[in-house]
Amino acid sequence: MSCGLFVTGTDTGVGKTIVTAALAIALRRRGLCVGVMKPAESGCPLEQGQLSPQDALFLKEMSGCAAPLTLINPYRLAQALTPALAAEHEGVVIDLDHIRDCYDQLAAMHDIVLVEGAGGLLAPLIDRSSMRDLAVRLELPLLVVARNVLGVINHTALTVTVARQTSAVLGVVLNNSVPIEQAAEQSNAAALRRWGGAPLLGQIPYSAALSRDYIELLGAELDVAAILQAVPASKNSER
Ligand SMILES: Nc1ncnc2c1ncn2[C@@H]1O[C@H](COP(=O)(O)OP(=O)(O)O)[C@@H](O)[C@H]1O
Ligand SMILES: [Mg+2]
Repeated sequence: MSCGLFVTGTDTGVGKTIVTAALAIALRRRGLCVGVMKPAESGCPLEQGQLSPQDALFLKEMSGCAAPLTLINPYRLAQALTPALAAEHEGVVIDLDHIRDCYDQLAAMHDIVLVEGAGGLLAPLIDRSSMRDLAVRLELPLLVVARNVLGVINHTALTVTVARQTSAVLGVVLNNSVPIEQAAEQSNAAALRRWGGAPLLGQIPYSAALSRDYIELLGAELDVAAILQAVPASKNSER
């Protein structure tokens, strides 16, 4: 029986990729076959004449997901804009049914599939659909990554409130993507437990050097058991 979850964030650049990679490694260590997906990635650099989706490639490497990159990342875009706009500028038509089809294929090959959104929850994916709508289309619960800065309580509560209107929310991971400097950052974990609106499922410390070895250790900072327990099995999967 396969299952999956959708990693979103309170903003872009909050640590979704780092947290997804750490979770993938932790799940792999538990003996699970882990698939990853980055349905749409913008801001891809050109390498040898081809767009190179950095998040998708990183997640593929860290998870050991052997699926083809065309399933892991069906849409890659050059401009560092929200996918809907980058796609419009670049003449790419993003199709939710195609993303769902790729996801279903990944789900059939793995025990669990971790899907990383682009930007925050309401970042536009196509004209009338955001990341939130994509999570609904994939029938996946949401894990919210929050950046530990002053203001994170509001950002998290907003994201969780809007997410819950359409999907289940597994919880929140608080990520220190910048060094702790203020009183607020020291108290934010406790504050999120009171006001975040969803369980706090981990706190990732800041590291100036985010090496592969370091990311492998980060799984210990996540409540993997609680995440696994809360993730429902997919209805349509073979495993
Ligand atoms: N715990 C951390 N310690 C240090 N730097 C971090 C940490 N988490 C994220 N970063 C840095 O912040 C940036 C954004 O992280 P990333 O995971 O790519 O965010 P997102 O996927 O949400 O866009 C990256 O450059 C990464 O190196
Ligand atoms: Mg990312």
